[in-house]
Amino acid sequence: MTDAENSRIGILGCGLMGRGIAEVAATSGFGVTVREVSSEALETGLAALRASMDRSVKRGKLEPEAAEAAFARIGGTTDLADLKGCDLVIEAIVENLDAKVSAFVALDGLLDRSAILATNTSSLTVTQLAAATARPDRFIGMHFFNPVPAMKLVEIVGTLMVSDETMTRARTFAEAIGKEPIVCRDNSGFIVNRLLVPYLLDCVRAHENGVGSLEDIDAGMRLGCGHPMGPFALLDFIGLDTILSIGHIMFEEYRETRFAPPPLLKQMVQAGRLGRKSGQGFYNYG
Ligand code: CAA
Repeated sequence: MTDAENSRIGILGCGLMGRGIAEVAATSGFGVTVREVSSEALETGLAALRASMDRSVKRGKLEPEAAEAAFARIGGTTDLADLKGCDLVIEAIVENLDAKVSAFVALDGLLDRSAILATNTSSLTVTQLAAATARPDRFIGMHFFNPVPAMKLVEIVGTLMVSDETMTRARTFAEAIGKEPIVCRDNSGFIVNRLLVPYLLDCVRAHENGVGSLEDIDAGMRLGCGHPMGPFALLDFIGLDTILSIGHIMFEEYRETRFAPPPLLKQMVQAGRLGRKSGQGFYNYG
């Protein structure tokens, strides 16, 4: 799987995360097959992937020929059976347990015995997905960050059942696509979200309590702490529905108030203000 030319990576889902993973794998020389549920979703995803590569070319980070070659390494499909022959399949579909389990059960029956299954889940436990397959020793969490081409981190999440060899293969693959892996236990939120989510929820509480305006809290964390984005810009960037759902799952797991979503966040989601993706969140995106 470190040998890009002789390895094929499958990606389930061509949304924000799936296409980002496909992009970095293809630009690193891997053959990639991306599977979406409908041809419309596949077309939209691949067009966005192409636009992201073009953006890298414009910024002088990727040669035009390299972008062409990388794009040619990506195949799109709506048929799960086309993932047969992949050495590693990374799932990045909707954050829904039933949908993920049924995809993994189908993949488990399709792939070679040696192939690894990976999930990019951000809040479900890897264990419950691994346990649904007949290859829990070759099942791992690989959690990427948005925007995938720009964020260097991958959390490699091991379970009680995963083999050392699978851990090593996943780490080596992450390094081969230019990422820096860190290893963590299968606890809800892993390392980053366990620390990031309570911080973001606390910022919403601070604003609810009248501590400062959105702009001032954002400026405080950018200018005072050197964060690339203030918390409200980041909340809008991640998606308020996503943070709400992660908060619910983490609160369920730990029963600690720091993970409990505050009323304002719930109301924002109920009002359809989901952040950048809906055109309005804490800020307005026209
Ligand atoms: N795709 C590819 N590359 C991108 C990109 C994108 N969508 N957006 C930015 N970049 C790259 C740029 O090419 C640029 O790289 P170089 O410096 O090498 O040229 C770099 O990122 C900086 O970009 P810009 O100058 O255009 O913009 P910026 O300085 O405003 O940075 C940002 C944009 C990278 C998104 C930055 O604001 C940032 O790091 N924000 C924090 C993002 C973050 O915290 N992500 C994690 C979210 S949590 C998560 O994903 C996990 C979860 O489970 C919820």
